[in-house]
Amino acid sequence: MDPILDHTVDHVLASQDVAYDWSYAARRPELGTLYEKSKDLMWNARTTLAWDTDVDPERELVSDAMIPIYGTEIWQKLDPVREIPKVRQHVVSYLLSNFLHGEQGALLATSQIVAAAPTAESKLYAAAQVFDEARHVEAYNRYLNEKIQLVYPPSPHLKQLLDTVLADSRWDFKFLGMQILIEGLALGAFGLIHQTAEEPLIKQITQLIMQDEARHVAYGVMSLRGQYEGMTGSELRDREDFVIESSRLLRDRFLAQEVWATVGLPQAECEAAANASVTMQMFRRLLFSKIVPNIKRLGLLTPYVRQGFEELGILEYETWEPSA
Ligand SMILES: [Fe+2]
Ligand SMILES: [Fe+2]
Repeated sequence: MDPILDHTVDHVLASQDVAYDWSYAARRPELGTLYEKSKDLMWNARTTLAWDTDVDPERELVSDAMIPIYGTEIWQKLDPVREIPKVRQHVVSYLLSNFLHGEQGALLATSQIVAAAPTAESKLYAAAQVFDEARHVEAYNRYLNEKIQLVYPPSPHLKQLLDTVLADSRWDFKFLGMQILIEGLALGAFGLIHQTAEEPLIKQITQLIMQDEARHVAYGVMSLRGQYEGMTGSELRDREDFVIESSRLLRDRFLAQEVWATVGLPQAECEAAANASVTMQMFRRLLFSKIVPNIKRLGLLTPYVRQGFEELGILEYETWEPSA
């Protein structure tokens, strides 16, 4: 695999709602507070981060427990000198590359939100978020290129989810898909990385990004509050299906499938081992601890979604403290 991705431009046709607000009225003080917080807490990825940190990409930068085949029979048979360091580098690259691509998706989605948001105050906040996402792209991209020296293309499942969110003309789908589901899951994953990472630079990056993402999720919850009250029929079912299907995709499809053959391991066996791994199943469900309480706050934990979440094994999180 080439360490750096080729330049390719990938287009998605999106219909975009554009709204003006000529009144510029302040209607929601909490949105103003969030906007002020964004400005106060901005950081510069070039100067704030300790880029002179020496990083060995073959060491355990984040916990090995995040490697989907960790602890399985295949893992136990890996050669600690020839194979494990390579698997570490590739899995960390896979993970952070998809974070990077997710950040680009967030950058694009938030720029659409700037255009579509119905109030000026919402546009201003969204614009601040656009710049947050730009810094996130910058930080992950530099870390991957300089420190890991290996970048994976986007997982086809992430690409599918981003396409759906970006191409849909309904503004609430962008909030629901990006600000509640994808960023909620990212917040869960960043939290685990931050707690377990040994490498100080990735810890620092993760911490700064998490601080921003918590505001982004809060913005999503604020913007969608009340949106689904009284929504019925096929309108509501569209949202319910989207929430369940996206959750299924996020829970089941990110198992580093692209890595195994690349590092010379048996593809089918690794996929089966990753799928069956009890630690991974627990871990993947844990990522929903931020999402489920927020779905509930939005009034979207309907009997239909509840049943879907039950089947996914993530309903237990409904009573967890919401992140926002
Ligand atoms: Fe971000
Ligand atoms: Fe974000």
